[in-house]
Amino acid sequence: PLYSFHEWQVWLYCFYQNTLQALSSVVALGANIICNKIPGLAPRQRALCQNRPDAIIVIGEGAQLGINECQHQFRYGRWNCSALGERTVFGQELRVGSREAAFTYAITAAGVAYAVTAACSQGNLSQCGCDREKQGYHEQEEGWKWGGCSADVKYGVEFSRRFVDAREIKKNARRLMNLHNNEAGRKVLEERMKLECKCHGVSGSCTTKTCWITLPKFREIGYLLKERYSDAVQVEPVRASRLRQPSFLRIKESRGFQKPTDTDLVYLERSPNYCEEDTITGSTGTKGRLCNGTSAHSDGCNVMCCGRGYNTHHYTRVWQCHCKFHWCCFVKCNTCSEKSEAFTCK
Ligand SMILES: *[C@@H]1O[C@H](CO)[C@@H](O)[C@H](O)[C@H]1NC(C)=O
Ligand SMILES: *[C@@H]1O[C@H](CO)[C@@H](O)[C@H](O)[C@H]1NC(C)=O
Ligand SMILES: *[C@@H]1O[C@H](CO)[C@@H](O)[C@H](O)[C@H]1NC(C)=O
Repeated sequence: PLYSFHEWQVWLYCFYQNTLQALSSVVALGANIICNKIPGLAPRQRALCQNRPDAIIVIGEGAQLGINECQHQFRYGRWNCSALGERTVFGQELRVGSREAAFTYAITAAGVAYAVTAACSQGNLSQCGCDREKQGYHEQEEGWKWGGCSADVKYGVEFSRRFVDAREIKKNARRLMNLHNNEAGRKVLEERMKLECKCHGVSGSCTTKTCWITLPKFREIGYLLKERYSDAVQVEPVRASRLRQPSFLRIKESRGFQKPTDTDLVYLERSPNYCEEDTITGSTGTKGRLCNGTSAHSDGCNVMCCGRGYNTHHYTRVWQCHCKFHWCCFVKCNTCSEKSEAFTCK
């Protein structure tokens, strides 16, 4: 159920999950074989894959971060980060340029930048490491100096640009939308980098302080991008005169040529309601989805099932309870049970 993602993202995700020691298998199999196997890569992505086989594992890790986070953020929604693909399990990208597509692009681009930055800090990639600009220098005014290993997010972001953006080869409005959302995802990550400090001196008196930059939790990026998703702006392409291809995006029906901001997520088309299965919009529909009988939010049966009603399933929930510690040393528990119900959409 990873249809919302482009096939190379999914392939890397599966590849990463199936071969945790993939680094050695890449080396053993040879970069040529692996890189030719990944479906849907653009020529420049394939070239980068062949030149940097160690990085392809980390890119897979980044795709996994993004996909997992997308599924977490949308677990209670009608759209749950899956959509129907065309034929294969790997599917196509979301063909509608919707808010949901915007989110998947932003979270993937951020995920790749994040994973590459983390791998650099841990010395796992050959061409990067800690941020050298932040080593040994003093911040005179604030009374501390750079120390430890500062995460080199600029490298991670640049790498994500080179790899993820290289997929956008069609010169159309969708390309502009995808590139904007990729950049927005990376920008949100850059803005969330954290300064951590440590005090030195007699019994922690803090006579000197060293500080370094670290990555935030990826979950934080997920929440921020989810907010951006809620406030996403609809845009339309603008063609510079004479040239046929669209050259930039402006906010739809805005006066003049108001452009979206760097961290706005942008979409071209309104979303379907995701109620019914529809191969054209890529909606899986909500038939069979679990819903909550009392919630008034998107996970509630009324909203989730789009008014079609729901089936009630009765079951008995069993768990260990009233556990007591006995001297010495064991724990004894009773078994408790409770009748419970679950609901699924018709
Ligand atoms: C770096 O490599 C080690 C050992 O292979 C691995 O356990 C760790 O998860 C890697 N870290 C990153 C951020 O890829
Ligand atoms: C999302 O919904 C689809 C269709 O109802 C379902 O098959 C799938 O398991 C769900 N995916 C997740 C990650 O919950
Ligand atoms: C259903 O929703 C209610 C209200 O939002 C919440 O308190 C409850 O924990 C939910 N039940 C389940 C099974 O998620």
